[in-house]
Amino acid sequence: MPRKKDINFVLLGLGKLGQGFYREWLKKKDEILEKTGFRLNLRHILVRHANFHRPDFVDKSLITTNIDDILNDQNVTIAIDAIGGIEPTFSIIKRIIQNKIHLISANRMLLASKMKEIAELANESRIYIQPEPSLGGGVPIISTIQRDLLANNIKSLYGIVSGTSNLILTKMTEERISLTEALKSKEILKLGESLSIIDYEGADAAQKIAVLAAAAFGFGTNFLHIHSEGISDISDFDIKCADDFGYVFKLLGIIKNYGQKFELRVHPTLVPKSHPLALVRGEFNAFLIETDMLGQYMVFGKGVGIEATSSIILRDLVYIGNIIRFSPSRMDVYLPDRNHKELIPIEEIESAYYIQFPCIDQPGVIGLIATVFGKHNINIASAHAEVRPDDSKTIGYVHILIDYAKEKDVLSSIEAVKKLDIIRGKIKLFRILKEDE
Ligand SMILES: NC(=O)c1ccc[n+]([C@@H]2O[C@H](COP(=O)([O-])OP(=O)(O)OC[C@H]3O[C@@H](n4cnc5c(N)ncnc54)[C@H](OP(=O)(O)O)[C@@H]3O)[C@@H](O)[C@H]2O)c1
Repeated sequence: MPRKKDINFVLLGLGKLGQGFYREWLKKKDEILEKTGFRLNLRHILVRHANFHRPDFVDKSLITTNIDDILNDQNVTIAIDAIGGIEPTFSIIKRIIQNKIHLISANRMLLASKMKEIAELANESRIYIQPEPSLGGGVPIISTIQRDLLANNIKSLYGIVSGTSNLILTKMTEERISLTEALKSKEILKLGESLSIIDYEGADAAQKIAVLAAAAFGFGTNFLHIHSEGISDISDFDIKCADDFGYVFKLLGIIKNYGQKFELRVHPTLVPKSHPLALVRGEFNAFLIETDMLGQYMVFGKGVGIEATSSIILRDLVYIGNIIRFSPSRMDVYLPDRNHKELIPIEEIESAYYIQFPCIDQPGVIGLIATVFGKHNINIASAHAEVRPDDSKTIGYVHILIDYAKEKDVLSSIEAVKKLDIIRGKIKLFRILKEDE
């Protein structure tokens, strides 16, 4: 029989995360034993290739390609998913859960696609799912919402969820360089060794928002239904314009909770320079939450990397260890309830906007554009025109700031402006985070 304070766990996968976690576990396990009295025992490591070379620090006797070695070991209580992808991982995870083994998951893709099914399986088997490592950073946001802010009604969450994108945007802003130049920088190339370097469509951030919405708000949706835009379309000129108007670009994941309806979206956002999120530089994550009891509440920390993810996995091992030891009968997993909650389509959201119109250099263009917006009942807060050299010719730009409008009215106005024979390039729209939002 295991000692009462033993936590016997298995590692599914020994790739970049699995090896990195293994190294951190070796470094930290004695300190954790000292602090908590829990002995973290790694019992098996599931991999795909039996004959791959593994680093010297790995105990090769733990490695198996046969999941039955895990399922037949009655002492195993927790599994860490560091495999990734949807299949065959989902099939492996199902067998793990059905064998009443608790799950700590770093597999964002799987959770963001199948959270509801996994939560149902977990509830049937009365086991816990700890999804926080899948956010890929070290900031404990899900546990903050579920536990520390338990008594609060969370009205909204604004998150810098991609450390890599934030590092790229910080470099573009501070060094006034283009995205292409930023991607060549040393810090970003270093991150690129282990990450797909740029979240072109915001899909990675959308997966994180899907996991967060499900785990922290009980709102389950496939990440593919979340409106997401990445940072690939932001030019150095856009960064300069944002700066001129008092903003910096941040890729924000936004959750707004209206009870039965939710806004979930990911897009580059103009954040006022004085806003706390504007001060989050480099590869950091931050979450600003608005609650009924606390007003604004912010958490901040390292957003990228194996150490950051391992910090959360180690915490979750002890967390589940505590539950198993002290309250083995209470097992509930937050079950995302899609049937009673709705995702608000992006066209229906209301926001502040900055819109950039490249157009002919001619008097009266601001008036023409403003008239179109007026016809759609949109008040323009301010409008500015400038002329810039562009290759061999000069091109005019009209910049428009809108304090508050419905997105579908803004999009219809833009379509109507396109029909005027004054536009000479791609019209760009960016949403603005209002200070009082
Ligand atoms: N890398 C990071 O910085 C990071 C950070 C946070 C979260 N994550 C997440 O962690 C997960 C793993 O990422 P990674 O970068 O470590 O991936 P990886 O380097 O590709 O490693 C995947 C591991 O899973 C094993 N595996 C694959 N298919 C398997 C199967 N059918 N049965 C058993 N084992 C199988 C592989 O075995 P072999 O070694 O035998 O091929 C390998 O050890 C992903 O969900 C990722 O999003 C990664």
